[in-house]
Amino acid sequence: MSKHVAIVGVTGAVGQEFLKLLQQRDFPLASLKLLASSRSAGKPMQFAGEQLTVEELDENSFKGVDLVLSSAGGSISEKYAPIAVAEGAVVVDNTSAFRMDPEVPLVVPEVNPGDIGSHEGIIANPNCSTIIMNVPVWPLHKVNPIRRIVVSTYQAASGAGAAAMQELIDGSRAALEGRDFTPKALPHPAAFNAFCHDSEVGEDGYNLEERKMWRETRKIFHDDDLRITATCVRVPVMRAHSEAINIEFSEPMSERRARDILAEAPGVRIVDDRENSYFPMPLEATDRDEILVGRIRQDVSQPDGCGLEMFISGDQIRKGAALNAVQIAELL
Ligand SMILES: NC(=O)c1ccc[n+]([C@@H]2O[C@H](COP(=O)([O-])OP(=O)(O)OC[C@H]3O[C@@H](n4cnc5c(N)ncnc54)[C@H](OP(=O)(O)O)[C@@H]3O)[C@@H](O)[C@H]2O)c1
Repeated sequence: MSKHVAIVGVTGAVGQEFLKLLQQRDFPLASLKLLASSRSAGKPMQFAGEQLTVEELDENSFKGVDLVLSSAGGSISEKYAPIAVAEGAVVVDNTSAFRMDPEVPLVVPEVNPGDIGSHEGIIANPNCSTIIMNVPVWPLHKVNPIRRIVVSTYQAASGAGAAAMQELIDGSRAALEGRDFTPKALPHPAAFNAFCHDSEVGEDGYNLEERKMWRETRKIFHDDDLRITATCVRVPVMRAHSEAINIEFSEPMSERRARDILAEAPGVRIVDDRENSYFPMPLEATDRDEILVGRIRQDVSQPDGCGLEMFISGDQIRKGAALNAVQIAELL
């Protein structure tokens, strides 16, 4: 049945991807409302050959809306998602506002689609690095429970939104021309640099992105015992996050077995050509639905055969945000 859909934050990096995906996937739309801040009100946007106009988000935006795809930041979702639900809409929320709320399902369709059924109006889309890790890790965990994960991320500027993408371009140009450049969207210059993920660092030294990776994975996997430690780093990549993942299983896991499992896993594409040194790269993960998985190899530091290494790249605006949310909407 066709839905009356609203996109909140349509002018942003994730919002623009929603527009693209609704067209590409031929989502059954009865109507489409584009919402953003007063700064964007009146801005024209093309959708499926039609010109639509961005409207300012307010308390009356959700009358007659069935489905809200929301990506305008946590405080906006906290305020407006309950209003949309009271109007009868279901909200698929891309922000961190409701992810750890025990009443709100947190869903990666390849992992826990069944959790959608328990929603009371809001379904949370997980953190982008978490989704990208969960898609290839879950099918392995299902056949051989994972005891511990050590993950290091190489995160694109676009993870911090449209302004950070522009800042990477402007900062690169300034660096090449020898001009001074003061970053605003990110805390440090992104060009020719790498730094601790731009989320708050807690007293224990972990940044918030790292915390999200273990908290959210445990909720999605329904496994509070899963041990995960993460190091999340911003790198000068425009789009698509990469992750080096070290896994310790309960039982030995051969490289061959892992490859067979991953070859069948939904949402995964193996890119692992040792002869030509051709492995997952963010440029090749960009605009793709699948998570690219490669460098699959036994961890030599774990002689019991329980350790596995892999390197993955995934488009975090697409599968790490908008696509995951649209897949949830399709399941609804
Ligand atoms: N980028 C990613 O890879 C990614 C991945 C997963 C989740 N997320 C989450 O998705 C959300 C959006 O991220 P993004 O990267 O798309 O950010 P972005 O590019 O900065 O876009 C932010 C959007 O929010 C809108 N907005 C800001 N203040 C608003 C207000 N007061 N009322 C209505 N709309 C308002 C902006 O509209 P204006 O243009 O009018 O200001 C814009 O459309 C964030 O919560 C982020 O954590 C992002």
